[in-house]
Amino acid sequence: MRVLSWLLLGVNLGCVRALSVRREGDLVEKRAETITFNNPAAKQFYVDGAKLPLVPFDAGPSYAGLLPISSDPNETRKLFFWFWPTNNPANVKNLMFWTNGGPGCSAFQGLLEENGPISWNWGQAGPTPNPWTWTNLSNMLWVEQPVGTGFSQGTPNITNEDQLADQLIGFMQQFLNVFDELKGNDFWVTGESYGGFYVPYIASHIYADPSALDLKLKGIFISDPSITYPIVQKEIPALRFVQANKNLMPLNSTYMRSLQKISDTCGFTNYLDKYLKYPPKGPIPLPKGSFTKTYRAHKKCALNQRIMDATTLINPAFDQYRVTDMWPIDWSVLGFPRAIEKFVYFNRTDVQDAIHAPHVKWEACATPPVFNETANHNSSFGINGGKDGDSSVPSALSVLPGVIEKSERVVIVHGLEDFSFMPEGTRIAIQNMTWEGKQGFQTPIKPESFTRKNMGVLGNAHTERKLTYVEFYFSGHMTPQFVPWAAYQTVEYLLGMRDSPSS
Ligand SMILES: *[C@@H]1O[C@H](CO)[C@@H](O)[C@H](O)[C@H]1NC(C)=O
Ligand SMILES: *[C@@H]1O[C@H](CO)[C@@H](O)[C@H](O)[C@H]1NC(C)=O
Ligand SMILES: *[C@@H]1O[C@H](CO)[C@@H](O)[C@H](O)[C@H]1NC(C)=O
Ligand SMILES: *[C@@H]1O[C@H](CO)[C@@H](O)[C@H](O)[C@H]1NC(C)=O
Ligand SMILES: *[C@@H]1O[C@H](CO)[C@@H](O)[C@H](O)[C@H]1NC(C)=O
Ligand SMILES: *[C@@H]1O[C@H](CO)[C@@H](O)[C@H](O)[C@H]1NC(C)=O
Ligand SMILES: *[C@@H]1O[C@H](CO)[C@@H](O)[C@H](O)[C@H]1NC(C)=O
Ligand SMILES: *[C@@H]1O[C@H](CO)[C@@H](O)[C@H](O)[C@H]1NC(C)=O
Repeated sequence: MRVLSWLLLGVNLGCVRALSVRREGDLVEKRAETITFNNPAAKQFYVDGAKLPLVPFDAGPSYAGLLPISSDPNETRKLFFWFWPTNNPANVKNLMFWTNGGPGCSAFQGLLEENGPISWNWGQAGPTPNPWTWTNLSNMLWVEQPVGTGFSQGTPNITNEDQLADQLIGFMQQFLNVFDELKGNDFWVTGESYGGFYVPYIASHIYADPSALDLKLKGIFISDPSITYPIVQKEIPALRFVQANKNLMPLNSTYMRSLQKISDTCGFTNYLDKYLKYPPKGPIPLPKGSFTKTYRAHKKCALNQRIMDATTLINPAFDQYRVTDMWPIDWSVLGFPRAIEKFVYFNRTDVQDAIHAPHVKWEACATPPVFNETANHNSSFGINGGKDGDSSVPSALSVLPGVIEKSERVVIVHGLEDFSFMPEGTRIAIQNMTWEGKQGFQTPIKPESFTRKNMGVLGNAHTERKLTYVEFYFSGHMTPQFVPWAAYQTVEYLLGMRDSPSS
């Protein structure tokens, strides 16, 4: 425990070497397995959680490696996974999939910094056990997808989310053949950010052909998701966000006046007051003249970048993913979002050997891109609202309503201090969506309606017709990283372990 609190306080990089030395006496008794796999093929993926480089505790048994996206013996495209059985025998019938966004960002950001059993968060000198690991609630499968992401192998050539979903389902079939004992489990698809494209499309494909996977899909969870045109989630609410966070983004009044002028001419200023109604008064139009064919704002209306540039001038530590960040800048052992790391955990050969990964240069977010940009050229933000060569239509305007209708529970969560996608934009996306015969939420989202036991009010929560939307105080973009206790509670709700996301 003393070592643990030390680590939590120790932001000094100098600590890393001293603490990385494993002391045998520190090892707790070997973690018991909650599930065993009979297929001999599973053995080659086994990872001993007591032997992970730099991890000074036994993280428990897990399985990692590459599996192909089809049964073709010549298949060259393979996805890298790290599967962690639940530590709670009562939850072995649950299986949850997690992906990060990007496109092209590794799910191991989630595993190591957000919701996995080992927490090596920004600024932490070394890894610690994560008390809010989602492995408490379910078997967890973190997958680096699509092809081109992280350790995954093969040439990326997809151009849309339908192809992405087909590849993932192909991988899942191969995974279930090896980890046979998981067949028939209840299943949830979860993710973050650009996962707002991935997750609903994957779920939609599974619902369209349930026989493809021997799993019972129950619902999805998306965190600070990209679900509509970037102009809605990044531009329209941007100035209002700055005004509401004046002490964190104190732009000078001359500059604020110039931003106000842009907001006025681009039709952003009264937009939220006019259209964020419960129930909505009909389909919500886009502001006239301010968006291009790619649905990014015209340069003259691009408030978001202007605001970031100006804020970074006065706060060099400014981070769009968490606007409360101040100097000094925290390092991240994954080299993301800023490349000031001493080393990148998954880029070390000892780590790669421990998890059966190929010896390749590992990057938290892939370059080059994971969609074929040449096929969909002109699409730095997609011809239909997707990013980097993804030609799919954002999920709130396509597959998400159908996914809600077929699910038992769908949860969208949002950090209130996220400037990369802003909650008021996500609210517009929800209010413009029609599911179960009605458009949007019919009654207003009550302020202070999300609480956690022994903590109190931590945000706002609302549920209608199987869709739950929760906004968290104290959180930027990566909600399970910044408010793990709040994200954990909403996942308990997703899994049907509680009747309300709020305590
Ligand atoms: C796999 O590749 C080999 C060599 O190119 C070829 O002979 C074989 O037919 C291929 N198998 C399948 C199932 O395509
Ligand atoms: C998760 O499980 C561990 C081990 O059983 C336990 O110590 C921890 O309190 C649990 N976390 C939560 C949030 O319940
Ligand atoms: C991608 O490449 C694979 C393997 O060569 C091929 O089977 C598939 O049709 C290609 N997909 C697209 C969208 O080009
Ligand atoms: C609202 O939905 C309609 C119909 O799907 C669409 O045409 C419109 O662009 C959407 N508005 C916004 C703000 O996304
Ligand atoms: C106000 O902010 C703008 C944008 O960052 C900057 O260019 C300008 O120098 C600032 N003016 C003053 C007086 O600080
Ligand atoms: C990753 O490892 C390669 C060698 O395998 C090295 O050249 C590269 O600099 C490393 N990158 C980072 C960010 O650590
Ligand atoms: C990407 O698309 C271009 C244009 O359609 C095509 O020529 C190229 O072969 C594609 N790349 C891959 C890897 O499939
Ligand atoms: C791409 O852009 C070029 C020039 O800007 C234009 O001629 C072409 O029609 C565009 N193609 C598509 C698919 O939008």
